[in-house]
Amino acid sequence: MQQYGLDIWSDNNFLIDEDELVVNYKSKPSLLDITNKIRSSDVRGPMILRFPHLIQKQIHNLYNSFNFAIVENGYKGEFKAVFPLKVNQFPHVVQAVTKAGKEFNYGLEAGSKAELILAMSKSLEGSHITVNGFKDKEMITLAFIGAHSGHNITVTIEGLGELKTIMQVAKETNLRVPNIGIRVRLHATGSGTWAKSAGMDAKFGLTATEILEATRLLDESSLLHKFSMIHFHIGSQMDDIAPIKRALREAGNIYAELKMLGANKLSNINIGGGLAVNYEQHSDLKVHNYSIKEFSSSVVFLLGEIMDAKGVKHPNIFTESGRYIVASHAVLITPVLELFTQDYQEELLRLKQENPPLVQELNELYKSLSSDNCIEFLHDALDHIESLLTLFDLGYIDLQDRSNAEILVHNIIKKSLRLTSNINSRELKQLQVHLQERYLINASIFQSLPDYWGLKQHFPVMPLHHLKDTSKRAASIWDITCDSDGEIGFNPQKPLYLHDIDLENEEYFLGFFNTGAYQEALGMSHNLFTHPNEYTIEIDEKSFTITNEVESKNILEILQSLGYNEEELLKKLKQDIITSSFITEKEKSDTLSKLETLVIQNGYLRTTS
Ligand SMILES: Cc1ncc(COP(=O)(O)O)c(C=O)c1O
Repeated sequence: MQQYGLDIWSDNNFLIDEDELVVNYKSKPSLLDITNKIRSSDVRGPMILRFPHLIQKQIHNLYNSFNFAIVENGYKGEFKAVFPLKVNQFPHVVQAVTKAGKEFNYGLEAGSKAELILAMSKSLEGSHITVNGFKDKEMITLAFIGAHSGHNITVTIEGLGELKTIMQVAKETNLRVPNIGIRVRLHATGSGTWAKSAGMDAKFGLTATEILEATRLLDESSLLHKFSMIHFHIGSQMDDIAPIKRALREAGNIYAELKMLGANKLSNINIGGGLAVNYEQHSDLKVHNYSIKEFSSSVVFLLGEIMDAKGVKHPNIFTESGRYIVASHAVLITPVLELFTQDYQEELLRLKQENPPLVQELNELYKSLSSDNCIEFLHDALDHIESLLTLFDLGYIDLQDRSNAEILVHNIIKKSLRLTSNINSRELKQLQVHLQERYLINASIFQSLPDYWGLKQHFPVMPLHHLKDTSKRAASIWDITCDSDGEIGFNPQKPLYLHDIDLENEEYFLGFFNTGAYQEALGMSHNLFTHPNEYTIEIDEKSFTITNEVESKNILEILQSLGYNEEELLKKLKQDIITSSFITEKEKSDTLSKLETLVIQNGYLRTTS
């Protein structure tokens, strides 16, 4: 049975039970059952399934690990955390985060005005709100309004200009001044794809000189009592623990120095996000080299050690981990619409009475293929097809001969892969690059997996069913956008094998996992494919319930969101039908109602034919 790397990426969240993939929680429902239930009400296209119990699990892991490390190390500060909204701002995610975070008073982080409004309206009472990113006077005023209305807000300044604006707003209004944090510019850099968030050339943070100047300005304007936090973030998806430790030493020492310089109310050190998620599904590929337990105990131990050495009280530790909290909760389910090598079906073979010798030979190879000779015959077949294609270009064989040759070669490959026990041999993997089957999925990679498109970030993918059958078709995945970038090609370094399915007889579904962080917020409406339908799945001891359905925008709504006038567009189309000389009077009302039904469906496909 193929496991698709479940043991690497799934953290026991999903299991294979007999033939299907199931959610490893309470009644363990199968993903196929959930999918079929949703689709029974005529839902088409891709869908996002949200599992709030997985958000709860991650929040518990985070708090429990840090609280355990605090006790174990005799650390005197507290652990506090906020969820960075940029990672997923969708309502049912924020709702699940705040619900699961209630017992810990889990807070929210905002990086823009809209996120700040969201944080102020959705945060748990008394929980922390941190405000990062570049801010203008309006955004700072908004934070003052938040503080004035009772929110526990810390505004992290990214430059001295922002501090001066805070001082100005404090002078001009009677609003309560929020807490002030300083993002420090570390010379320590991170590791992994997003490592450029730190280092002396990073986009954010104050240098040592600027930090000292900021403290002087705060003191001068009688705001030093508001300076309560220093903050750093060395990058998302940190794959190595060593840079984290370096950054902690540097930030810890900055904290201790500032305390010794008289920043009396400074009591929090915010270490940002960065906790990594396992996206790989092949055992030979690198995953991050630390666990949450090692991470939390390193942070607590190092900060305790630095503070003790300088005689400074242990600070509270804040984290802003986002990816770690929500990546696992969302699964993207995509129906497969078509397998492109189905065009090479054996039934379409039309051999002639007299065939060109190489075609004849291919036919013989195919007929006498066995497990003993399949690799050798495969090499011969690949050699012959090269020659036959050249013969076609030179005009020596006709289109029917070429079609016969292509069908025979594809079937030789298919049969060889079935017959050989050594599918993982380097050569076969390499050959499969040219022989892959294309699985057309009813989804857009630009919309649903933008980090694959932009950064080649792999996401675990596997079928939801047929898991007892060995899948041997080297697979590449095509999405339905009109863009050749909308493809996850077969990669011999991380091969994906899927099943040979006759889609005329049954449906085939793929699940993409760990897609809950960043993908939805970054998703692009390329070709006007929008955010898919989404559902929250609540699981209990007996069964599962589907709640919080949010439908994908329909075609008219998509166009409306670009600024088109929905009514005007529809009026024009209707007018064209009414005035068309091709449509008889009798057909007009039927065509009009067809049009009206079509424009209120989402843009994804029902089938390809
Ligand atoms: C300041 C800050 N905090 C927190 C995060 C969240 O990081 P992650 O999702 O890796 O936990 C980010 C993301 O880049 C960030 O810039």
